[in-house]
Amino acid sequence: MEPVSQIGFRLAPAALDAAAQEALLAQVLEKVAAAPFYRPVTPGGKPMSVEMTNFGPLGWVTDAGGYRYQPTHPVTGAAWPDIPEVLLRLWAELADPEIPPDACLVNLYRDGAKMGLHQDRDEADFSFPVLSVSLGDTALFRIGGTSRRDPTTSVRLASGDVCLLAGPARLARHGIDRIIAGSSRLIPGGGRINLTLRRAGPVA
Ligand code: SIN
Ligand code: MN
Repeated sequence: MEPVSQIGFRLAPAALDAAAQEALLAQVLEKVAAAPFYRPVTPGGKPMSVEMTNFGPLGWVTDAGGYRYQPTHPVTGAAWPDIPEVLLRLWAELADPEIPPDACLVNLYRDGAKMGLHQDRDEADFSFPVLSVSLGDTALFRIGGTSRRDPTTSVRLASGDVCLLAGPARLARHGIDRIIAGSSRLIPGGGRINLTLRRAGPVA
């Protein structure tokens, strides 16, 4: 893992090799058949450019009712599919060896999709890191500090890269400025899939 300018932000470039990326993508697409991507709306009613679904006991959702975690898909009403085993292993290795994640947000970025700067703060316990895996087209990820006034840095996230928001960077503001279309051939139809693992609920 290489530290970048923000203490607590850690990047593991190419943590997943090409074969591991293909294998993970196949599992993701199989699970997405049961829990399809949908386009969420912000609490203010604006459709997001990113499509989303989730794996695990809890899924992050947004709609007119606000940001929250819930156990079921908002469109199908079904429980979310299980988190792929390889992601649970990555979490145990890089984030927490004992307590597993209970939420995996799956973001799909196609044609011009992006994500504004925000903090991940809907979880019960910020002592657990946020672990994110990138598949497909390279993203220009932006990360700053906890205050809007803090300077930001741009980091390229390529397919197979894994990054961690931990410790002092757990509540760092971050977002996706843009995706470099055509930079990877991994995802059928193009674009990028990001898998974000979190411990959302309290530890019993
Ligand atoms: C997120 O913050 O939910 C996603 C970040 C990413 O797509 O890398
Ligand atoms: Mn986030």
